[in-house]
Amino acid sequence: MVGEGQNIEVLISAEALAERIAEMGAELTRDYAGKDLAIVAVLKGSFVFLADLVRAIDTDCTVDFLATSSYGNETESTGIVRLALDLTASIEGRDVLLVEDIVDTGLTMKYLLENLSTRHPASLRVCTLLHKPSRTQVEVPIDYKGFTIDDRFVIGFGLDFSQKLRNLPYIGHKVG
Ligand code: IMP
Repeated sequence: MVGEGQNIEVLISAEALAERIAEMGAELTRDYAGKDLAIVAVLKGSFVFLADLVRAIDTDCTVDFLATSSYGNETESTGIVRLALDLTASIEGRDVLLVEDIVDTGLTMKYLLENLSTRHPASLRVCTLLHKPSRTQVEVPIDYKGFTIDDRFVIGFGLDFSQKLRNLPYIGHKVG
């Protein structure tokens, strides 16, 4: 069983996630109707959120991926971000929606916004499932937000602890 023997507290249930993602999808559908929506998802953490979100968006879009890596240990990043995997297609002139699992310090998002804006998209917005405002080191604009959470290391629904626990169907917190 996933998470066997670990004490994991449920913070956001699968039902609450489904309900909120449906709302976000409806909002995005309204906002991007008739636009040239290019969804750019940040691997790996966003893959579960992305899969549900795109199916809640009822307008044409493309999906592409990038990945970042930042040096650090399992739960703390050093803030030095680099691109580990780049997009496969140009975003020039397109309406880009950057999809992340979580904005924590904001350093990854700041780096990505700077990087992507040099490619001249028509518009560039941020959509994140989770936001930990208490950890902010740099302010980044968040246009679409699923949930605001406290300063706790969360796992599940795509988010990992040492690359594991991404397949939990809820957002949880390891206790103890
Ligand atoms: P930031 O650059 O500090 O905003 O962190 C962004 C990245 O750190 C996210 O995309 C996650 O991969 C990772 N991260 C930050 N907080 C958590 C957490 O609570 N659980 C799992 N991963 C996290």
